[in-house]
Amino acid sequence: MPLLPTLSTFFIVLSAVLVAAGWVLIIKNRKSSHRKVMIAAAISALIFFIIYASRTIFVGNTSFGGPDDIKAFYTIFLVFHILLATVGAVFGIVTLTFAFNRKIKKHEKIGPVTSIIWFFTAITGVAVYLLLYIIYDGGKTTSMIKAILGT
Ligand code: HEM
Repeated sequence: MPLLPTLSTFFIVLSAVLVAAGWVLIIKNRKSSHRKVMIAAAISALIFFIIYASRTIFVGNTSFGGPDDIKAFYTIFLVFHILLATVGAVFGIVTLTFAFNRKIKKHEKIGPVTSIIWFFTAITGVAVYLLLYIIYDGGKTTSMIKAILGT
């Protein structure tokens, strides 16, 4: 199992589980617990991003190593996942900003949308991880730094 991708996938899944728990808590009107659990979800998403970004810069990205006829499917799936993660991150920041500024009506409106985008980000993230490392062996890994330095 590749260490960094396994770790970052773990943190995406953890943050989605925490968002689900935070949603249940606010339905039960447990405000202070909702606040704590959602902040933990945001931190866990941030840890995912730090691991993912450092790996991209220092180690590189791994290309798909599976059969050619699945490659197009994998690439579309990967782009879909990256789009979801980017939109999810922006929505997450907006949702948190509304919460901290006590714009609770707006927060309540956008909260479920953010949560659902984040669930799909996690599900597609796990699928990408399985396709890239577990079901098939990963392809070549090229480092951005190595590419820039030409070594
Ligand atoms: C499932 C949809 C969501 C609903 C219905 C919802 C609803 C609420 C409500 C009603 C409050 C106000 C509690 C109060 O009056 O003190 C609140 C607070 C808060 N929510 Fe959410 N929320 C949702 C999703 C999220 C998400 C996704 C995050 C973070 C990424 C989040 C983070 C927070 C935080 C940090 C507070 C505390 C604000 C403060 O007291 O300073 N919520 N939420």
